[in-house]
Amino acid sequence: MCRSCHQEKGKTYAETAHHFASSWPSQRTMKGSFTPDSNVMKTANPYLTFEMTVTEQGYFQSAVEKVSPTKKISRTERIDVVTGSARKGQTYLFWKGDQLFQLPVTYWTDTGSWVNSPSYPDGSPHFDKAVIPRCLECHASYFEWMPPPVNRYRKTSLVLGVTCEKCHGPGRQHVARHRLKSSLPAGTPEAIVNPSALSRDRQIDLCGLCHSGNGTPLQPALSFLPGDVLADYIDIPYYSAEEAVDVHGSQVQTLKRSKCFQSTTTLTCTTCHDVHKPQVDAAAFSPRCLTCHEAKQCGEYAKLGEQGTRNCIDCHMPLQESRVLFSNTNGKKLMPKVRNHQIGIYAGENVH
Ligand code: HEC
Ligand code: HEC
Ligand code: HEC
Ligand code: HEC
Ligand code: HEC
Ligand code: HEC
Ligand code: HEC
Repeated sequence: MCRSCHQEKGKTYAETAHHFASSWPSQRTMKGSFTPDSNVMKTANPYLTFEMTVTEQGYFQSAVEKVSPTKKISRTERIDVVTGSARKGQTYLFWKGDQLFQLPVTYWTDTGSWVNSPSYPDGSPHFDKAVIPRCLECHASYFEWMPPPVNRYRKTSLVLGVTCEKCHGPGRQHVARHRLKSSLPAGTPEAIVNPSALSRDRQIDLCGLCHSGNGTPLQPALSFLPGDVLADYIDIPYYSAEEAVDVHGSQVQTLKRSKCFQSTTTLTCTTCHDVHKPQVDAAAFSPRCLTCHEAKQCGEYAKLGEQGTRNCIDCHMPLQESRVLFSNTNGKKLMPKVRNHQIGIYAGENVH
């Protein structure tokens, strides 16, 4: 509904990770391979494998257990919801009645292969991780939940992806006003949140709803609206300086630890990110640093010169392995690399 008028933003937004933070399974959104040879995942248990198959009824995952030389037992569930745009990976959800669960096999972008879903043990078949409202609060835009157990939802209520209104608040009034534009007096308020008009704290809170970790909800999911004080809704975990970077969104905590943040009143997420466009090329963010710094200020400038210091990002916001979220697959431990948002000076081991 927003895109009909804001066409340019709508077009680039449709390619973003937010748009694909969750989606219905389709050829467009499904990144893993379902073709024979690459559709099997081995586990640390030689008698257990997982198979990914596609039929006219949809995409499926099966756990196949060899219980004797001639006998196999299996359990098959359909992939009903895709989570993740696959920058790092994708995890899949399935309905059992009106309860939503996580499937055992995840697609891992780094290796281009199927892996054991993070938090499931390697080598035993599990289909039992309940998908709680907080998960959908970060990865989807709307859902209605039902009396316990905690993972019961009205199936047809799900609105997938992080849509415009998650960051701009409810837009019905704004749309109605613009459709009747001619009859509106000049100076009528827009009836929509423009985050750039919020204080820095409230801007950070908006992103922090999803980019500062799970936290402990103090209010029902979906209560927070752009402009609200996040601490009233979620008890956000505090991270000590030694804490490992977390794939699940400690960007707020890590950025706040930076001198750049602490010594200014303006630095916020949108100093660097335009969330209406895919954010892909890390080095391309370097000009953002130069809005406050000069390359000559860099301690390495004398040694490396203009060319050698052009990419500020890889030295001052290094990619590091997440020690918080990982997959144990077929006896190996896989850790995704995340961009540390604490802008700072790092020891040589992190500098590429
Ligand atoms: C009927 C046309 C129309 C629709 C539909 C529409 N907008 Fe707008 N919107 C406008 C116009 C016109 C403006 C003012 C000029 C501009 O900034 O483009 C505007 C301005 C805005 C602004 C800036 C407000 C400010 O205070 O600076 C935001 C944010 C916004 N729209 C978001 C949305 C979102 C989110 C949706 C969907 C819920 C939406 N719009 C749907 C026409 C529309
Ligand atoms: C409703 C939850 C939610 C809110 C609010 C939110 N994000 Fe995100 N964001 C996500 C999720 C989920 C992902 C991961 C999507 C994926 O890759 O599947 C993500 C990914 C990103 C990425 C990396 C992907 C990319 O676009 O290249 C950036 C950067 C980002 N968010 C910045 C922001 C900023 C800045 C804000 C505040 C203006 C914000 N987000 C608000 C949920 C949210
Ligand atoms: C507190 C908000 C939050 C919660 C809760 C949350 N996520 Fe995420 N998730 C994110 C953000 C933010 C990212 C992107 C992080 C990054 O790139 O650093 C992400 C990344 C992911 C990715 C990788 C996406 C990609 O494109 O690489 C998957 C898959 C995923 N989440 C699935 C889930 C599932 C399934 C649940 C619930 C069972 C869940 N997440 C709970 C915020 C959340
Ligand atoms: C992840 C959060 C997020 C999502 C999703 C999002 N926006 Fe925004 N939007 C922002 C932020 C933050 C700003 C303020 C940008 C700034 O400070 O430079 C903004 C600014 C705007 C503006 C006014 C400023 C301008 O550049 O004209 C419009 C209009 C707008 N967004 C429309 C949309 C529409 C339409 C969508 C969906 C297609 C959308 N936004 C999705 C966060 C978001
Ligand atoms: C909004 C302005 C602003 C932006 C944008 C900014 N910085 Fe800073 N940065 C500062 C300020 C102010 C300081 C503190 C200077 C001081 O204390 O002497 C600082 C300090 C630093 C330091 C010293 C950190 C330490 O722990 O000693 C480094 C390194 C740095 N910035 C690099 C960067 C890089 C790289 C970028 C881009 C990714 C960046 N900055 C973006 C304002 C900014
Ligand atoms: C090859 C890695 C590398 C690149 C590229 C790089 N830096 Fe640095 N930078 C460093 C190191 C290492 C230090 C610490 C030097 C020292 O303590 O003598 C540093 C120090 C700094 C400082 C702190 C200086 C002080 O006196 O406290 C700033 C500010 C800075 N860099 C900004 C930048 C900016 C802006 C860019 C991009 C234009 C950049 N750096 C590119 C490695 C790099
Ligand atoms: C000083 C610049 C800067 C600021 C400020 C900044 N980011 Fe980033 N962010 C980056 C860069 C650079 C990347 C790497 C982009 C890439 O690899 O394509 C990145 C990547 C991300 C990603 C993807 C994470 C990953 O590991 O791939 C998320 C999510 C994100 N930022 C969220 C945020 C949020 C939320 C804020 C505010 C709390 C924020 N960023 C503030 C520069 C910044």
